[in-house]
Amino acid sequence: MNFDASSLVDSEFGTVDRRIFWDKDIYELEQERIFARSWLFVAHESQIAEPGAFVTTYMAEDSVIVARGDNDEINVFLNSCPHRGNRVCFADSGKGRQFTCNYHGWAFGLNGDLKKMPKMGLYKNTPGFRMEDWGLKRARVGNYKGLIFATFCEDAPSLEDWLGDFRWYLDAVLDVEPGGTEFLPGGATRSVLKCNWKFPADNFVGDIYHALWTHLGGAEPTLGPHGGVVVDNEGSYQVSVNGHGWEFNHSFFGNAATMGDKEIIRYMKSREEAITARLGQFRAKMWGAVSSATIFPNFSFLPGYFTFRTYQPRGPLETEIHAWTLVPKNMPDEVKDRFRRGSMRTFSPAGILEMDDGENWEHSTTINRGYVTRHQKLCYAMGADTAVEEDLPGKVNAGQVSDHNQRLFFKRWAEMMKAESWADIPLAENTLDREAAE
Ligand code: FES
Ligand SMILES: [Fe+2]
Repeated sequence: MNFDASSLVDSEFGTVDRRIFWDKDIYELEQERIFARSWLFVAHESQIAEPGAFVTTYMAEDSVIVARGDNDEINVFLNSCPHRGNRVCFADSGKGRQFTCNYHGWAFGLNGDLKKMPKMGLYKNTPGFRMEDWGLKRARVGNYKGLIFATFCEDAPSLEDWLGDFRWYLDAVLDVEPGGTEFLPGGATRSVLKCNWKFPADNFVGDIYHALWTHLGGAEPTLGPHGGVVVDNEGSYQVSVNGHGWEFNHSFFGNAATMGDKEIIRYMKSREEAITARLGQFRAKMWGAVSSATIFPNFSFLPGYFTFRTYQPRGPLETEIHAWTLVPKNMPDEVKDRFRRGSMRTFSPAGILEMDDGENWEHSTTINRGYVTRHQKLCYAMGADTAVEEDLPGKVNAGQVSDHNQRLFFKRWAEMMKAESWADIPLAENTLDREAAE
């Protein structure tokens, strides 16, 4: 298919061409222009707390190892041997001194460098062979308050500029307590959906609209036994920076209340004053509120349930979901365990809310098998964008029930798809770092 990415998305009125959820050529171009040029989430630093600790994960279709080295530095490199290409590490996580390939025994250090191999002397006689040329391909690594991101793109801006002013909002889940956050131990839940990766990313970036119908069957949106939750556009927002988006109200524990555990609510209420003192009232009220967010392109989370997940593409019609639960480190163990159970009950492969969503995303994808069907457009026209008076970072829309963030998500998608290089990709001004420098 010949296509012009900007003709597939109209972010002004709000339409998206359905072929972007189906077409193989578009999918291949996404690997090059979206995933290989973005900063992608790879791990939380709590998963690799000690030197020698590692996890294996994916950056889109690329298998990578994330390892903490001897000097406490965090390294990310391809999990593929440069000798004949074999997968080097088969474990999900562990601790070790080196990674040794099964095939011929090449061994790599915690930073990916090639350290030794059987019959090393034979290579020493090879003119032009240098050990330092044949390590595992390393990525650039960035860390924002415990979340580790990586990119293989040399030209990409810094992680600080990539996240930009979205970091101001991220602190409402990452910096609520002294001591930072952690992923609950035990690894990720993993599942596979027959859907295009952009449907879940789109859903989390700004779709509270579906919750009123998919999860509530059209009932009045007063959720949870421990606090009524009203979803409307009074005192609620959508914010977007560089395609990252967060829709939220200020219900503080609105999402958490739907897990139905009064001890969780009691705990959250007990922290409200301290969190308000730390972050100010505006962001403190976001902590567990009715809300959802996506960091472009495929890393999403839900305040309140604190599920953090990646949507790894597996072809245009399949997505692998890896999900963890994030909590403040200093939360009492008993409350952490309640969050573990609450988030499994709601947002896990067998969770009541996740099952509702997955079915919709699968059918939104597979229906495009129809040739005529996939040549139609989808409607993203809800709510003209409104600017908000308050002095808030990013593009801010008054009201969380809107397609504002989704329009900007797909605008970002089209900008990256059509750009030949990073020089052609616009970046929002990073006012946080500018103000810090002044
Ligand atoms: S493929 Fe890894 S040592 Fe040969
Ligand atoms: Fe949902």
